[in-house]
Amino acid sequence: MDNNGNININWFPGHMKKTIDLLKKNLNLVDIVFEILDSRIPISSKNPEIDNIVLNKPRIIVMNKCDLSNEIANKKWKEYYIKKNIKVVFLNATKNHDKGIENLIRLTNDITKGKRRILEKKGIKNKPIRAMIVGIPNVGKSTLINSLVNKKSAKVGNKPGITKGNQWIKTKGNFELLDTPGVLWPKFQDEKIGLNLAFTGAIKDEIIDIETLSLKLIERLVEISPKLLIERYGIEICKSNALSILESIAIKRGCILKGKEIDYKRISKIILDEFRKGKIGRITLELPDFSD
Ligand code: G4P
Repeated sequence: MDNNGNININWFPGHMKKTIDLLKKNLNLVDIVFEILDSRIPISSKNPEIDNIVLNKPRIIVMNKCDLSNEIANKKWKEYYIKKNIKVVFLNATKNHDKGIENLIRLTNDITKGKRRILEKKGIKNKPIRAMIVGIPNVGKSTLINSLVNKKSAKVGNKPGITKGNQWIKTKGNFELLDTPGVLWPKFQDEKIGLNLAFTGAIKDEIIDIETLSLKLIERLVEISPKLLIERYGIEICKSNALSILESIAIKRGCILKGKEIDYKRISKIILDEFRKGKIGRITLELPDFSD
């Protein structure tokens, strides 16, 4: 990341093509796709090519990590998707008995009812519905797979026509899930998207200057809700200067080096970590644009 917060990460075009080819192959094997987004950043966590890849295949948008996103914002996003006639569920994939997971199963059964009826008319009964999960890194794909799989679930193994290495796992609701999710790349079209991905931990901290990142996060939080910072850290915000806010938080948290210097690295890590864990509050960084 440079000093302006620009993040330069490239997915190699060769890698993108390979990913798209594999995904298209797997798409032929499934009845429905679960596209996982991070509900704190539904725009930044969406792969730019996904609509062109999935095309008309039935799809459910899974707004994951809804325990971390703002409840009012979740409602707005729900309204937006309903208006666009897009199927959506909000869930917390870390919770095994999450209501959202039940909703996902119910909606999947609902969407695939027609297909099951056609098969039954042809005399094919109880053919399991097959699904696959796609999404960019860190949105919770593996966590959701684990939560969807019953404890007693058995891997049903490779069958003809299935890409080598893939396995189908029986899930709650009696459908089959491809055990390897489609991992897509995020978009880095503008600085804001790169920052959103970095704030939420979708980009590894090792390649990012965390001091700049935490200052950028403070700027955003002051825009969204300064109250959250004031309440979490017991500071006053007179000037909305990110550096002075960071320093006030550092003093409150005792992040001081020998010689009374501020330990910028340590306080930056703390702020980012607390944001990612939802300790500062339930915060959504992107709202829907109803005019699009
Ligand atoms: P991926 O396969 O899409 O790359 O994502 P993965 O499931 O590995 O999840 C990335 C991180 O997000 C994990 O945390 C996971 O626990 C967390 N996570 C996934 N879904 C949810 C959710 O609905 N709510 C919350 N709060 N967190 C979620 P981690 O810190 O990287 O790992 P761990 O410490 O939990 O093991």
